[in-house]
Amino acid sequence: MCGIVGYTGHRQAYPVILKGLKRLEYRGYDSSGVALLKDGVLNIYKKKGKVAELEESMIGKNIDAHIGIGHTRWATHGEPSDRNAHPHSSASGKLAMIHNGIIENYAQIKQELINKGYSFSSDTDTEVLLNFIEDIHKNNGSTLEEAVRIALKRVIGAYCILLIEQDNPDTIIAARKGSPLVIGIGKGEHFLASDASPIIEYTKEVVYVNDYELAIVKPDELILKNLGNEKITPYITKLDMELAAIEKGGYDHFMIKEIFEQPSTIHDCLRGRLDAKEGQIRMSGIDHNIEQLANASRIMIVACGTSWHAGLVAEYIIEELCRIPVEVEYASEFRYRNPIIHKGDVIIAISQSGETADTLVALEKAKENGAFIFGVVNAVGSSIARISHAGAYTHAGPEIGVASTKAFTGQLAVLMMMALNIAKHKGTITMDRYQTLVSELEAVPEKVSEILKGTEQIKAIAEKYKDASDFLFLGRGYNFPVALEGALKLKEISYIHAEGYPAAEMKHGPIALVDETLPVVFIATKDLYHEKVVSNMQEIKARKGKIISIVTQGDTHSPSLSNDYFAIPLADELIAPILTVIPLQLLSYYVGIAKGIDVDKPRNLAKSVTVE
Ligand code: G6P
Repeated sequence: MCGIVGYTGHRQAYPVILKGLKRLEYRGYDSSGVALLKDGVLNIYKKKGKVAELEESMIGKNIDAHIGIGHTRWATHGEPSDRNAHPHSSASGKLAMIHNGIIENYAQIKQELINKGYSFSSDTDTEVLLNFIEDIHKNNGSTLEEAVRIALKRVIGAYCILLIEQDNPDTIIAARKGSPLVIGIGKGEHFLASDASPIIEYTKEVVYVNDYELAIVKPDELILKNLGNEKITPYITKLDMELAAIEKGGYDHFMIKEIFEQPSTIHDCLRGRLDAKEGQIRMSGIDHNIEQLANASRIMIVACGTSWHAGLVAEYIIEELCRIPVEVEYASEFRYRNPIIHKGDVIIAISQSGETADTLVALEKAKENGAFIFGVVNAVGSSIARISHAGAYTHAGPEIGVASTKAFTGQLAVLMMMALNIAKHKGTITMDRYQTLVSELEAVPEKVSEILKGTEQIKAIAEKYKDASDFLFLGRGYNFPVALEGALKLKEISYIHAEGYPAAEMKHGPIALVDETLPVVFIATKDLYHEKVVSNMQEIKARKGKIISIVTQGDTHSPSLSNDYFAIPLADELIAPILTVIPLQLLSYYVGIAKGIDVDKPRNLAKSVTVE
């Protein structure tokens, strides 16, 4: 939710910021802007639309500066427009600020400022906070740093802010609570950003700023303080990420690159952990906490979006293998209701970004109540990874396409390994079954490669159905969450209305939608429920719905009931979701492409949702 970049040092700031904003566009792309400071002149340029539009509008402008801040926005307060784009300028014109987050009590502060004679040129909460800071700075005789500290103590909500001041030629003041901030340490230069992707090509040494910390950043100096004005020693971490991982590498879109990366990302996730020959899974986050996990009287899984779907698959798997009751909750619901949490309850948080505000706050709440938090996270060093007691990374590498693909299959692989380890420790799985599943899991990357060879077939199906106005996705058992995920993917990047349903539940409502225009995607692979799913296919066929099925290679019956089908390799039903989701990812990608949609940046969405 909004990407921010800052630079102070010996380089030209604008190219660093612009490149950084392009890398952060997955966080929002409603508008973007930069503020550049040189010789006491503060220039702000901003534009509605994607970063490319800002770039175009900058041709011929004065961009000479060695310090600057930039922002790409996902609108919260105020429509996407030039006026509401960041950076905002203070009433005196001396300060410029960018902000990622939401100031919840902005209306009250705004009223106080209006009473003092301030007027506002945007609808944003950011401009309110900025003028509040300026008001304290001017009238209390405080330094800017003190003013920021005083203002932030009053603020309710989430923020990561970067501020520059006309009279301060080389300093960026930054602060965070709830929205991420990474500072890259260079030689005579510093980089600030929402994640490491704008920093990686300049330095691998970074400091992750924590909540309630304030940074005073100059080319040669980084001072970190808490809001009580006490200095904190910055903890420098080495980035374990390569530049190639955040570039398209010859693909047309990040999404298709990430779909095709899955054989290797799943392999990376299993590597060093799963040893089929030895019949072993070693995961330090699980092994070191195995008693806590195995003795849990229940497990609650908290997540949003695609990660929530991975949680649903995990519910089925953990209950089956470990015989521990599992509840799966939307983080946004969990955090506001009054859930019963006992000391020792295990909460599994699943998150690609590790920054989703609802998930983060839900965890804080559960932690306060004594729960043990286990994070299944993709972004290394992210907030959720850091607040968890233990965890396992999915190792899918940076995911940039807004629609999640490789992170989902990584989550499923980690959750499967987790369930197998717990089940083995508890003795709720036979060694035969354990060995079968370990071997099946090891074979997944190869099977995914095989599925990807059929891409052209899926593309043809996508082109055939691209003009449908609705889609239904149906599956049972382990594949029911995959049906939900297939529908979500299609909605996200093709703007076609789609619903995912348990195949049998379809009779209780969605069947009313079925006519000869409705494509119904069945996940009809060979498993315990197969015959039941086939009966559901018959019910749709009888009503003339168009059936697209994902079937197991060698099955001839399901294809005979289908208008179109795609066959995947045989797999154990617990492993199947990692495979059945791949054709659905491809289907949504190619429908989006056929409709001319910018699949990496579909309208209104953002990849990292740091507002509630
Ligand atoms: C956004 C993204 C989804 C993602 C969800 C949860 O809605 O567009 O792709 O599944 O957030 O994000 P997380 O990073 O916590 O997995």
